[in-house]
Amino acid sequence: MTRISRTGRSPRAAAVTAAALAVLGLLAGGCTPATSGVRGTPGASGVHDPYFPRLGNGGYDVSRYALDLAFDPAAGRLDGTARITARATQDLSAFNLDLAGLTVTEATVDGAPAAANRAGDELTLRPRDELRRGAEFTVTVAYSGVPEPLTDPDGSTEGWLNTTDGAVAVGEPAGSMTWFPGNHHPSDKAVYEIALTAPSRLAALSNGVRVSAEPVSGGRTRTVWRQSEPMASYLATAMIGRYETTTGTALGDVPVVTAVEPSLVSATAALRAELPTLLARQQDRFGPYPFGAAGAVVTADGLLGYALETQTRPVFPAASFDRATLVHELAHQWFGNSVTPEDWQDLWLNEGFATYAEWLYAEEHGGVPARESFAAAFAEEANWAFPPADPPTAENLFDAPVYQRGAMVLHQVRQAVGDEVFDGLLRGWAAEHRHANASTEDFTAYAEAVAGRDLDAVWDVYLYGEDRPDRP
Ligand code: ARG
Ligand code: ZN
Repeated sequence: MTRISRTGRSPRAAAVTAAALAVLGLLAGGCTPATSGVRGTPGASGVHDPYFPRLGNGGYDVSRYALDLAFDPAAGRLDGTARITARATQDLSAFNLDLAGLTVTEATVDGAPAAANRAGDELTLRPRDELRRGAEFTVTVAYSGVPEPLTDPDGSTEGWLNTTDGAVAVGEPAGSMTWFPGNHHPSDKAVYEIALTAPSRLAALSNGVRVSAEPVSGGRTRTVWRQSEPMASYLATAMIGRYETTTGTALGDVPVVTAVEPSLVSATAALRAELPTLLARQQDRFGPYPFGAAGAVVTADGLLGYALETQTRPVFPAASFDRATLVHELAHQWFGNSVTPEDWQDLWLNEGFATYAEWLYAEEHGGVPARESFAAAFAEEANWAFPPADPPTAENLFDAPVYQRGAMVLHQVRQAVGDEVFDGLLRGWAAEHRHANASTEDFTAYAEAVAGRDLDAVWDVYLYGEDRPDRP
């Protein structure tokens, strides 16, 4: 395996310095000082992501979120309870959850009240009893308020977005903290149950399978969705509004739920009907579909500036609901959602694969061989702005090189190993890290193992190289 040192990447296991711990101690201030014999320390306030150092938290690992969210569209107000099941990975005196805005009204750990402090997007909870390393614990946080969307470093909007009659919640890379407290880094995947209570005249959708929909007080319905395979929090979604919902199946028995803004029903019908066929073809290429549910949501334009691969149920603004984008977001279900980046620097593993899925589709159905897509991408100046495995700043995370040069990396691997081996490599990569996390180094090592030789020539130019060579 080759390792090329890269700039801007802090080691994952970097020790939390004494100074940082002292700061954390202060942030969690107002709590009783540790008594002698107590060994626990506060969990870190971030997991050292090179682009978002404060995302995620140290000291525990979440296995399950149960979110109970009541939304009042007229007031734009959200009342939530998050019930989080986690395991301590160190002796913990306190730990953080990421939460932006909103007011925390009550917090418990293992049923006992926990002291809660807010500082920026960090919610620090100090349990009455310290948590021992390895112990499973349950946190509940009750909260409410009018959620505020986030503006990303690249200027796009994410998080909980209120619409005229409902809301759309999306979270790549950081917006999920605007609607529920959690360990909001892709490295901590968990299963989810998301209950949405909203006026009964509105549809309420989320990830996974719909398990129930019951009337509750005030002319409202509580709809429960269950995402039983692991999910990174940036892929969680909630969509409440006037949608036309259609149900069906794909891949034999996988329930499909699509929802579309009423004015877009007929314009989107033909493409929506293709979803099962597109999924079936991707399953042939990429291996077993990773989830027990599928679908899509098409919203009116003017709210979201991009489509997003929200798990099992990608969301599209009307303007981007086209076949290439649908192929792209469906491919993310394997690459990104099932095989999830270890941190945000590895995002090309999502976007390069999803873009390559578009090239494969164009090769099969559009009469455009992948080598032509590659040649066009090679010729495009913008794709050489920076190496896809090392975007210069968070502002550049979703720029062209991550998508296009990411796909070029895969095409070069295909050139190196041949079509047949490459087909197996796509399936093997999806299988090897199914429902887990993977890094760029995992990928280069995997590809080299499959190739039976080093692929430095590919990595040096396409993954890490600054400049375009004279020819491919
Ligand atoms: N992952 C989405 C896609 O490629 C794009 C998300 C863009 N998000 C952002 N904050 N710029 O389909
Ligand atoms: Zn994408």
